[in-house]
Amino acid sequence: MTAEVIDGKAFAADVRARVAALVAKLKEEQGITPGLAVVLVGEDPASQVYVRSKGKQTVEVGMESFEHRLPADTDEATLLDLIAELNADARVHGILVQLPLPPHLNADLVINAIDPAKDVDGFHISNVGLLATGQKAMVPCTPLGCLMLLRDRLGSLSGRNAVVIGRSNIVGKPMAQLLLRDSATVTIAHSRTRDLPDVVRKAEIVVAAVGRPEMVTGDWIGPGATVIDVGINRIERDGKTVLVGDVHYESAARVAGAITPVPGGVGPMTIACLLANTLTACSRANGLPEPEGLTA
Ligand code: GUN
Repeated sequence: MTAEVIDGKAFAADVRARVAALVAKLKEEQGITPGLAVVLVGEDPASQVYVRSKGKQTVEVGMESFEHRLPADTDEATLLDLIAELNADARVHGILVQLPLPPHLNADLVINAIDPAKDVDGFHISNVGLLATGQKAMVPCTPLGCLMLLRDRLGSLSGRNAVVIGRSNIVGKPMAQLLLRDSATVTIAHSRTRDLPDVVRKAEIVVAAVGRPEMVTGDWIGPGATVIDVGINRIERDGKTVLVGDVHYESAARVAGAITPVPGGVGPMTIACLLANTLTACSRANGLPEPEGLTA
């Protein structure tokens, strides 16, 4: 079997087009422009790339982009003041503080200072709790993107056997919650899981989010499974730096029914879902209906 390739790049472009159409409608019919504020502290090169990309795509879908770049030695009080300002700013419907923060700043404290209604990352403890109890929440972007790809490929996820490898707060845990909410049977596996290959082999849905290059090989995958690879790892191969996932693509693609490539799979979905979340936050703030097909 050769797996169908799940084209996350094309899917993300479609999500952005749907967001852009709804933003245009909001402007025309309600005179409202959704706004997203991104806060970057310090000069981490990968974070700078992400933030630039977020700003560009925000503007491309017709939203307003507010970018705040603060020096690496910014103190907690200054950052909290900025967040309070953004919380109070009616033009700002979504706030994202780029992680990781420099080590002298308490990320939990900073994230939990964001108004939960504007927390488009879905990292605030209120949103984590709302998701876990099946209430209306802001949902983390990467898991939301994975869910959209899975629903598109499989239709209903009800009763399906899913394994999430990785238990991070950003991906693994919220992914498991979303799958559970769609009535899948969910196992959260991690580095301490016994007989991990056997556990993964039983799954119809595999979401790999461990941050270990090519850890999941084809012999771990059940025939016909849908494999979602969240990993983005830079490794040296044949003297070149290459990007690989947490799944060994070639061997897995021989067994799986469908698989996301790296790059071009889950990666592009994250920012597309951030824009979708910003539109959702804006709609909720104005008492308007949720954007259809763009929420969990
Ligand atoms: N750093 C890496 N991924 C993310 C993300 O999804 N949100 C934020 N805020 N920072 C990140």
